[in-house]
Amino acid sequence: MERLDKFISTQTSYSRKDIKRLCKSCDITVNGNIVKNSDLKIDPENDVVCVCGETICYKQFVYYMMNKPKGVLSASNDRNATTVVDILPDEFKRKNLFPAGRLDKDTTGLLIITDDGDFAHRMLSPNKKVYKHYVATLDKELDDTVKERFESGIVLADGTVCQKAYFDKLSANTALVKICEGKFHQVKKMFLACSYTVVELERVQIGALKLDSNLAQSEVRELTKIETLQVFDGKID
Ligand code: URA
Repeated sequence: MERLDKFISTQTSYSRKDIKRLCKSCDITVNGNIVKNSDLKIDPENDVVCVCGETICYKQFVYYMMNKPKGVLSASNDRNATTVVDILPDEFKRKNLFPAGRLDKDTTGLLIITDDGDFAHRMLSPNKKVYKHYVATLDKELDDTVKERFESGIVLADGTVCQKAYFDKLSANTALVKICEGKFHQVKKMFLACSYTVVELERVQIGALKLDSNLAQSEVRELTKIETLQVFDGKID
């Protein structure tokens, strides 16, 4: 059992204050009955809760795929900058959403936004070997030694040793890099250690989950159950 106001505030973007007001104006029903008391205890799985005539479809957690644009911060909220949670469409907004893993402000591509902390932890933990795939565009032509360096473990400028990464040259100055760690600016720093500057970076895949090519930048859609499992499909292709 859960308090009605807590239930509505986690499932929607209504605040507890909004909910009190909506109770007063008779805009909330539980199983068809108007509820005036926002601290009523309800059964989230079985009771039918409507706010302003709209039924709340209970979900314990949500998982969204965003094609992150440049210029937006990977955070839930920020005093000065627009965040990935700020740009979610209203129908996707609810409490406790955060990006599972950060992309730099100028990095684009696949970002998962969720309110499931355990999911994010498993996805990000290097031991779980969930590979994140990035297409990097470099400032100059790649030479043949870079692949070998990435695949044997790059040592960053500060002495940090990175785990073995997968590396495929896609064109003279672009490469597909697969890493299972998430050190700060990791891909950029790995290339810097080899004397290259990353001029564009896009994340295209996490585990076996690919960025949906129908999603324009800034667009978001909910992941299917199967897609949430694909994240942990560790095969490297
Ligand atoms: N590595 C980077 O350098 N930046 C990102 O945004 C992600 C990985």
